[in-house]
Amino acid sequence: MSGARATARANIALAKYWGKSDEALNLPAVPSVSITLDGLVTETEVAFEEGLDADRVSLDGELAGAKESARVVKVLDQLRQRADTGLRARVTSHNRFPTAAGLASSASGFAALVAAAAGALNLTLTFQEMSALARAASASAARSIFGGYVELAAGALGDAQLGAVQFADPDHWDLRVIVVTTAAGRKTVGSRAAMNRSRDNAVFYRAWVDESVELANRVRRAILERDFDALTMASEQSFLAMHATAMTSVPPLLYWNPVSVRVLHRVWELRERGVPVFSTMDAGPHVKAVCPSHVAARIAEELSRVEGVLATRICPPGRGVEVTKVRST
Ligand code: DP6
Repeated sequence: MSGARATARANIALAKYWGKSDEALNLPAVPSVSITLDGLVTETEVAFEEGLDADRVSLDGELAGAKESARVVKVLDQLRQRADTGLRARVTSHNRFPTAAGLASSASGFAALVAAAAGALNLTLTFQEMSALARAASASAARSIFGGYVELAAGALGDAQLGAVQFADPDHWDLRVIVVTTAAGRKTVGSRAAMNRSRDNAVFYRAWVDESVELANRVRRAILERDFDALTMASEQSFLAMHATAMTSVPPLLYWNPVSVRVLHRVWELRERGVPVFSTMDAGPHVKAVCPSHVAARIAEELSRVEGVLATRICPPGRGVEVTKVRST
């Protein structure tokens, strides 16, 4: 047996990825910029074993369904090809996310899977190579390979090597992301199906793609210059444009619930009162509020009192993926 264990963290995009330019290679149509978050962690162990007739995938203690398994097997196949082996693997993955957060875990999940499987096969891959492999599985996962502040460019057709890059480490800026949970359970339409629908028929999709480069540039520049006001404007525009695009899809995609809207308004009220904070949202009803660390506790307290909010959790910027070998037997 040869095995390895990897830890990867979720990330939150401030310039959003929404739409693909190449579905077969899973290339994003737009650039995205994110912060890797501490506290939302996936731990994955991969062991390649003689005598297994198929890959065995367990997620949070349960055997993975056919669809989830197929995505995992696809990643393993690519790594097996590189290592020139036919050995099947046992994959055990746990999300150390707060219960009922209902947050997407595919980013940290696929980042951890790639790193653990590469480690188990003794492949010495660069972070760039791991990021490209993770991107092929789930584009947001490309960003979770790296810690701190990360960019994933838009992919040109056929660009199989596209991976993310870190442009500032976790210590660059003492921001906090407050994850505000506004509902229990899983989202109804997953981001993959939803962004494909937007690309196929959303009235605003073309405008979204056209604006995305400038938005991502503004977000990256604001982070590099630690300009919180500029980051506020660019990030809120990015998430609102993404959601406006989703809303104009047919059938429409409206991820917000009444609690999400109340939280967005409370964030704007706080800002009116001079508190530095802005919101972002993904393909679900939860709101993430971003602020400098010194005001995080106070803002989390305020947001936890918004009617219907189930939980708040403060996350600092986190490190990239980490791998350890598991002893061979
Ligand atoms: C709204 O990375 O889950 O979170 O590449 O199809 O797996 P696939 O999509 P995924 O999409 C994430 C979309 C988002 C915005 C973002 O993280 O940039």
